[in-house]
Amino acid sequence: TGTLEKVVAQFNKEDHPFTVEWRPMPADTGQYFDKMRTEFQVGGGDIDVIGADVIWPAQLAANGWIEDLSELFTEEMQQDYLDSTIQTSTYKGKIYGVPWYSDAGMLMYRKDLLDKASLQPPKTWDELLSQSKKIQEQEGIKYGFVFQGAEYEGGVCNQCEYIWNAGGEVLDPSDPTKVLIGDEASTLGHEAARKNITSGVGPVAVATYKETESLTVFIQGDAVFIRIWPYGYAVATGGPAEGSVLKPEWVGVTSLPVVNEGDQSFCTLGGWDFCINAFSDKKEQSWKFIQWMSQPKIQSTFAIDAGYIPGRKSLFEDKELLKKQPVMELGRSSFESTKPRPSANPFYSDMSLDMAQAFTEVIKGDIEPQQATNTLSTKLERIANVADVTYNLGG
Ligand code: GLC
Repeated sequence: TGTLEKVVAQFNKEDHPFTVEWRPMPADTGQYFDKMRTEFQVGGGDIDVIGADVIWPAQLAANGWIEDLSELFTEEMQQDYLDSTIQTSTYKGKIYGVPWYSDAGMLMYRKDLLDKASLQPPKTWDELLSQSKKIQEQEGIKYGFVFQGAEYEGGVCNQCEYIWNAGGEVLDPSDPTKVLIGDEASTLGHEAARKNITSGVGPVAVATYKETESLTVFIQGDAVFIRIWPYGYAVATGGPAEGSVLKPEWVGVTSLPVVNEGDQSFCTLGGWDFCINAFSDKKEQSWKFIQWMSQPKIQSTFAIDAGYIPGRKSLFEDKELLKKQPVMELGRSSFESTKPRPSANPFYSDMSLDMAQAFTEVIKGDIEPQQATNTLSTKLERIANVADVTYNLGG
């Protein structure tokens, strides 16, 4: 959205003893992580402040690549942030990141079309399928539902949601060495994902969709429903400047559907933190810059311009801000039901590769949902055991 560029330019215009340069990194979090890992392995590179995905702190901290911020980012300062975001920045009782913005997976839908068909937003995947088919037929819309099924981290975010919303878990939340994905619920979740394609509601191309591809379909008016992060709302309602043909009042937001009626809906906690490179020789300046970026007014700018949801709790009470960025209110039920990915395990990036592969294969129909569950159970078990030995996680 160009917001980061604008905000950094603002910092440089103000009177500070140093200036800041920003460097674009790959939009795909996995590619970005690989790039950072390579830089760390050859001595740390020259980036001082890292915009880090919430799944990274444990892995980066376990290798000693990012600074422990516990003395700077005090417990008192942490009070103003959502607990979930503080948890993902914490590794072995120390904090390594300051939450920049928070993401939650949500269902956005064409409110105009649901209203026209006298339908309430769906609560289960089956409801979503029947509503989609009806509206696709009546309105001649290409697709019912789009989501992210490509073989990358975003696919894993979707996959976790399918599993959780069928009543399952990937790893035990209180013991990241215990693998629970072998449960029947995971297969139900994988089946729901597959059915969203075989029903003709989602295009087969979902197997190649990341955020941008799926959002493009939605903002061009070619889908009734989309699973996306909150920034998707800013893009969808941003009009022609954002490439959207939708009117702001046409876009509705609700929680993701579940498999069994009445079950609680969960969604993946995403988001980004500011971390300091442990190899940096400008740690003091880095901390000053992070504090500047974390001021409520700068966080509000990101929220309004880019749909980046602030990690600061107090901003959820700011009436002016809520008016300017409606998704903060519309998506409240999603923000309140986030779950972290199993990234407390420092080998999460290896697990994620296996999960992403299985999820894409299920979407494509290359493997059966049950097979995906079994394979992942075996593979994750192996990785979790190595992690336990290396980092003594179970102890
Ligand atoms: C968003 C989330 C991030 C997640 C990524 C996956 O950027 O904030 O946590 O890993 O999407 O594509």
